[in-house]
Amino acid sequence: MRFMVTGGAGFIGSSLVHALVRRGDSVVVLDNFSTGKRENLEPVAERVNLVEGSITDLPTVRNAMQGVDFVLHQAALASVQRSVDDPLTSNEINVKGTLNVLVAARDAGVKRVVYAASSSVYGDTEELPKHEAMPPRPLSPYALQKWVGESYCKVFSDLYSLDTVALRYFNVFGPRQDPNSEYAAVIPIFVTRLLAQSAPTVYGDGEQSRDFTFIDNVVAANLKACEGAPKNGVAVNIACGHRYTLNELHARLAGLIGTDLQPHYAEARQGDVRHSMAAVKRAETVLGWRPEIDFHDGLERTVEWYRTLLSASR
Ligand SMILES: NC(=O)c1ccc[n+]([C@@H]2O[C@H](COP(=O)([O-])OP(=O)(O)OC[C@H]3O[C@@H](n4cnc5c(N)ncnc54)[C@H](O)[C@@H]3O)[C@@H](O)[C@H]2O)c1
Repeated sequence: MRFMVTGGAGFIGSSLVHALVRRGDSVVVLDNFSTGKRENLEPVAERVNLVEGSITDLPTVRNAMQGVDFVLHQAALASVQRSVDDPLTSNEINVKGTLNVLVAARDAGVKRVVYAASSSVYGDTEELPKHEAMPPRPLSPYALQKWVGESYCKVFSDLYSLDTVALRYFNVFGPRQDPNSEYAAVIPIFVTRLLAQSAPTVYGDGEQSRDFTFIDNVVAANLKACEGAPKNGVAVNIACGHRYTLNELHARLAGLIGTDLQPHYAEARQGDVRHSMAAVKRAETVLGWRPEIDFHDGLERTVEWYRTLLSASR
């Protein structure tokens, strides 16, 4: 089978590419390297058809889409804070870019588009766990754009019979996640700071909680999402179904790394939700998928990966 991974040089995209190459599938990556990195694809570069270009350019997307069976659409400006700082740019990529991918997929006769949706669509609802029947309440431009993206997927399924499925990822973490960007996620920042013996910053009181999901679970969900009966634009949560506070996360990482550094606390950030935890029943019913690697194992593997990376760069 031929797969297109948009954003295939990024954290999640490159993990998908590695898994597909391992399986022997043919892979085309479309990425403009805005946040993705060439080195993420280095070990598989010979076996991937890499198209450097933007999903905002329809002719580029159409060209790359030729002969593709499945699209794993990961390309996005994947940051709440960045969308708060610059809603126009993130809208262009996350909404227009997604529409281009769907139009090109429809016209190329793609079998299914799997869309990287986000738990941020739920917003700050009190009810936990967050389940797919709850009405979306986006709190940031990013969350709204991701909701528009998955809604477009549904509309394309209904209107043009382009099969789609939206995977609502919850706080994904693991190897190759970038710790260095100003918009980096919490786990790579905490791990790299603690390994460097410097105290990380917690925004707010640290009692906010997240359903942290190890990358291998997300890869497995994407592969499952390409199998079986049509998905008809359904949205499913991809998570572990447990939540941990940032203070718990910090304590666990400090234990794994062997440091007693305490975090600094700073003012809470705009658009952040307080608690997040998923119901994962629908993913099991619709995809036949369940998370296999729990938070603790995932953290251990992640720390190990950054430790090796750090010692190799010394
Ligand atoms: N990481 C998470 O916890 C999480 C949670 C929910 C949803 N998601 C979604 O998963 C997807 C992947 O996220 P990630 O964490 O791997 O982020 P990432 O920034 O590592 O990857 C995004 C990739 O998209 C590429 N890209 C950006 N704009 C592009 C454009 N205009 N044209 C082509 N390529 C472009 C980047 O260069 C990068 O390689 C995103 O759609 C994101 O919204 C991620």
